[in-house]
Amino acid sequence: MTVAAADDRTMTDAQRRDPRAAKGLRLRIGSNGFEERGGRTMPWGLQNRLARIIRPSDGHTVMLAADHGYFLGPTSKLEIPRKTLEPLLPFADAVMVTRGVVRTSIDPGANVPIVLRVSGGASVLNEDLSNEKVTTSMKEAVRLNASAVALSIFVGATHEHDSLVNLGKLVDEGEEVGIPVLAVTAVGKELEKRDARYLGLACRIAAEFGAHFVKTYFCDDFSKVVESCPVPLVVAGGPKLETELDALELAYEAIQEGAHGVDMGRNIWQSSNPVGMIRGIRSIVHERATPKEALDLVKGAKPKK
Ligand code: R5P
Repeated sequence: MTVAAADDRTMTDAQRRDPRAAKGLRLRIGSNGFEERGGRTMPWGLQNRLARIIRPSDGHTVMLAADHGYFLGPTSKLEIPRKTLEPLLPFADAVMVTRGVVRTSIDPGANVPIVLRVSGGASVLNEDLSNEKVTTSMKEAVRLNASAVALSIFVGATHEHDSLVNLGKLVDEGEEVGIPVLAVTAVGKELEKRDARYLGLACRIAAEFGAHFVKTYFCDDFSKVVESCPVPLVVAGGPKLETELDALELAYEAIQEGAHGVDMGRNIWQSSNPVGMIRGIRSIVHERATPKEALDLVKGAKPKK
């Protein structure tokens, strides 16, 4: 029996249908994808925290992004974070927030892994959003029992250098205490930057600096971004799309092209049916539902008044 045949016999049906199998990014049972993407060299604590975010059973994650207030202030539909988040947390594999929102708006007993936003320093009132520093210490991340910390990098922007050096230092600090680092390939106000050439460059640089996973945008030829980035990628939803189906299709295509999951915010909580939306996204990410099947689920879930 060949090694490939033996490998095939150990795969679940879901793994056989995994589009990553065809791209040589096949997952093993009990793996969350990190073993194939750099995880073998990670210490136990890092692997354990990552496994709290990216499910080892299928290598995927639905992260709920709600850190927008750190530069946008009271973003529409996130004005009262607790009210927005509470109904959604049971359906999130992790939630991405600042320490201010963790302390005020998430119960310590809520069993949801925290991805702590630790960079900031520029508000939406500033033309240049790239002037960020690390604003929350690694000690604070430990105190808050964060499962990961997140920082933006601004490749090609005025403060590119500082943001990359920040990332390198944060990875050093994270590795000292076993907390993984999520690098966010931020584009500031230049949304048109979201193409495979730019995002491929930014994601690769993030991985080279030691980020344990990377958050980026979906784009045409996204599989090229995945292939040239040796750590797992999760995709942001970006500004609210016209229809729910558009957002479901984005998640579906991202997974098909090799993303390990989504880290989605506005397209969930700015929807008229946020719980329906996160359930629909879950069905795509974890159950391989099609966008149409997921939309039926969204419509079937009654919006909360
Ligand atoms: C932006 O820098 C923040 O990190 C958000 O978490 C990110 O934009 C993802 O949220 P959304 O799906 O709303 O784009």
